[in-house]
Amino acid sequence: MISMSNIEPNNKRSTQLEKPSIPLSQREGQGGESLVQGGESFIRIILIGYMGAGKTTVGKELAKALGLTFYDLDWYITTRMRRTVKEIFDERGEEGFRRIEHNMLHEVAEFENVVISCGGGTPCFFDNMEYMNQQADTVYLKASPEVLYAHLQMGKGVRPLLLNKTPDEVQQFIREQLAYREHFYSQARHIADVNLMDNFSKIANTVADIREMLGV
Ligand code: S3P
Repeated sequence: MISMSNIEPNNKRSTQLEKPSIPLSQREGQGGESLVQGGESFIRIILIGYMGAGKTTVGKELAKALGLTFYDLDWYITTRMRRTVKEIFDERGEEGFRRIEHNMLHEVAEFENVVISCGGGTPCFFDNMEYMNQQADTVYLKASPEVLYAHLQMGKGVRPLLLNKTPDEVQQFIREQLAYREHFYSQARHIADVNLMDNFSKIANTVADIREMLGV
C-alpha cells in the first residue's frame, strides 16, 4: 500500500536544489541521478508519455527494482480529491482537472526517493514540463500511435478523453494529439523507446534500459 506519510512540509520548498538546470546524469561526482537538497542526496524520477505508454506499469517495476516509493499522479489526485478522474472531468471540466493536476504535481514532485508516473497530459499544461525537469530526472516513454492504441485496447482504465468515440476516431485522436504533445514530451531529459514492450520480460527490459540510461 502506498503511503502519503512522507509528505514534505511546505517550507521544504524554499530549500535550494543544486543547479537544477544541469541534467542530473551529467553532474560530476554524483553517481547518476542523485539530487542534493540540504546536504543529503536522493533520487527522484518522473515518467511521462501518452496514455497507454505503460508509465504506471514501468514506474511500479522501476520503483521496486530501486527500492523507491512509487506514486501515480492520477492515483494521488483521486485519493486527495476522493473522486475518480472521470468524476473530476464531469464536475469541473478538463480545465478544472488540469488545475488540480498542476497543484498535485507540485506536491508529489517534492517527495524524495520516488518514482512518479504522470498523466499523459501533465507535461502539456502550464509550465509543468519545465518544472518537472527542474525537480527530477524525467523519462519519456515513447511509442507509436499504433502501439499506444493496442495498449489502450488491452487496458481497463477509463480515459475521459477517449470516451464516446468509435475505434477509428480513437486512432485518429491519438495520432493528432500525440503529434501535438510530442513537442512537450521530447523536452524530457531521457527518452525510452517502449514500442516493443508488450509482455512482462519486455517491461523488465525497459526497466533495465532506464536504469542504464540514468546510471541508477
Ligand atoms: C490524460 C491521461 C490520463 C489522465 C486523464 C487525462 C491525458 O492518464 O490523467 O484521463 O490527457 O492524456 P494516463 O496517461 O495515465 O492514462
